[in-house]
Amino acid sequence: MSNSLHQPVLLNESVEYLRAVTGKKIVDGTFGFGGHSKVILQKGAEVLGIDLDTHAVNACKVLAEENDRLACFHGSFREIKKAITEQGWENCDGILLDLGVSSYQLDDSTKGFTYRQDTNLDMRFNQTTGRTAEDILAESSESELADIIYQYGEERKSRRIARAIVNTRTEDGISTTKQLKDCVESAIGKGPTLNASLSRVFQAIRIAVNDELSSLSDTLVDSVDALAPKGRLVVISYHSLEDRIVKKYFAKESTGCICPSEFPECRCTHRASIKLVTRRPVVALDEELATNPRSRSAKLRVVEKI
Ligand SMILES: C[S@@+](CC[C@H](N)C(=O)[O-])C[C@H]1O[C@@H](n2cnc3c(N)ncnc32)[C@H](O)[C@@H]1O
Repeated sequence: MSNSLHQPVLLNESVEYLRAVTGKKIVDGTFGFGGHSKVILQKGAEVLGIDLDTHAVNACKVLAEENDRLACFHGSFREIKKAITEQGWENCDGILLDLGVSSYQLDDSTKGFTYRQDTNLDMRFNQTTGRTAEDILAESSESELADIIYQYGEERKSRRIARAIVNTRTEDGISTTKQLKDCVESAIGKGPTLNASLSRVFQAIRIAVNDELSSLSDTLVDSVDALAPKGRLVVISYHSLEDRIVKKYFAKESTGCICPSEFPECRCTHRASIKLVTRRPVVALDEELATNPRSRSAKLRVVEKI
């Protein structure tokens, strides 16, 4: 398994923050091609690798044949508690969530994650279940599409793009990345901002297909629950929507009283369950930025269970 399939981002930083040493139980919730897990295993820890993608889980199984400290779970990190229980663990000492898409998936011609290739509009991390991007584009109303593109892509021309999608789908249907790209182009023209809009639209549809933001919110809660005292949760996010969710959740759960500031005294029963290990997000150093383009947008945040 080579790192040419995907170059892990913030590798040393993540492994250091996880404090992965012999005897520790670490969940890699986004196994991918094991870029992080392989180093965690080298440190002597046990790893439970989770991934929605069949190729990733197969890669995990191949690695597990050579290493009995690695176990694999095919499913969402949303099922982290189930995965831990099935593994026979009571809890774990560290959890890594390296969110988003691997380079391998971007290049995978069956996925349709990018407008840079002409391929089927699937976009599911787990291609064995659920609605595809094609289904969502066919079944959503114009206003639902506009909301998806605005909320998950932060694209200001969302209404125009949604209208173009609806007009195109009545004529031909939209089943390829090229057709979606053409819709966006017909809605906003070929100007200098076209590629940025295309990235935002493709990101938005991918987030909707995989229900990525609710998965992340739910998993943060379950991850903190699943950690042993002093266990650490390390999250690497790649866009502001993800990072905002992580930052807000970590801020809230590391705070005791969460009463509105106008309350004269505390009326909530909220207690901090975690402490912040990183006050500001950790970003890639120049050396990594120069060699790994995916690291440019990466933000790493770490908390420790109290
Ligand atoms: C950025 S890649 C991880 C790369 C990995 N850290 C490495 O270095 O090889 C993200 C991975 O998370 C997986 N993924 C995305 N959402 C997921 C979810 N809800 N549950 C489990 N895996 C998910 C993707 O299939 C992908 O393989």
